[in-house]
Amino acid sequence: MLAGPGSAAAETEPQHQEPEPDCSVERCVALTFDDGPDEFTEELLDTLNTHGAAATFYLLGSKVEDHSATVERMAAEGHEVGNHTWDHPELPELSTEEIQEQVGRTDEAIAEVTGEAPRTMRPPYGELDQTVRQTVDHPMLLWDVDTLDWQSLDPEAVTDVAVEEAAQGSVVLFHDVHETTVEAVPYVLKELDKQGFTFVTVDQLFDGQELEPGASYNHARPDGGPEYGDDTELEEAPRPGDGTELQDTPEPGDDDGLEGDDGLEGQPETGDDPWLQ
Ligand code: NI
Repeated sequence: MLAGPGSAAAETEPQHQEPEPDCSVERCVALTFDDGPDEFTEELLDTLNTHGAAATFYLLGSKVEDHSATVERMAAEGHEVGNHTWDHPELPELSTEEIQEQVGRTDEAIAEVTGEAPRTMRPPYGELDQTVRQTVDHPMLLWDVDTLDWQSLDPEAVTDVAVEEAAQGSVVLFHDVHETTVEAVPYVLKELDKQGFTFVTVDQLFDGQELEPGASYNHARPDGGPEYGDDTELEEAPRPGDGTELQDTPEPGDDDGLEGDDGLEGQPETGDDPWLQ
């Protein structure tokens, strides 16, 4: 559309920058995209922009310089840029110094482009142990909905998982290194929009809640989330009280969810993404 001489500057800003969503009232969901930036990321940004949807990108530091314009665009269009390590190692296999380097180098590469270091990070494969927790100086964002997009490579299957499993406060895992995932996103947005969802960044999803460095979070679901089966562990309830509300699950006697660490490591296939496959 042509802008008339009287057009306010605000009318030209992307929709998702105004107004700030209120996730204590709105049905918010955070769509997250890992392992980029890559060749399909620009198309994904176009799609998100068309729908006025915000998202969070967990980037590999090693890819940032080659796609710096894309990373700059992410930040400029209101998306959150997170840290997914330098080159996707299994962090529990590394020394403290190596973990620090993986995270620190990536922070620097992103800050170089966006002017701001990431606030949150996502450990590759969701793999965590006590050393990782004690070493990583960021809150660690996992997910409660895994689209398994790297496995199905099928836009319809990806859409079905996202649409059927997303709930208020969910963090949904995708990988924008797959063209099939990027093809699915317009359908995911359309269907979740019909269900009344607002698409927000992780930062907006947790809306003022203080996320602690070294702690991990799966979601911000006011319903306490699903009963966790095999595919994701309940690491730590992001809101006090929510973590103990899983139905039909015996009280662990310890609601900090730390048992989940070992459970996840025992099932590497479920937290996997395609990086090493
Ligand atoms: Ni990954």
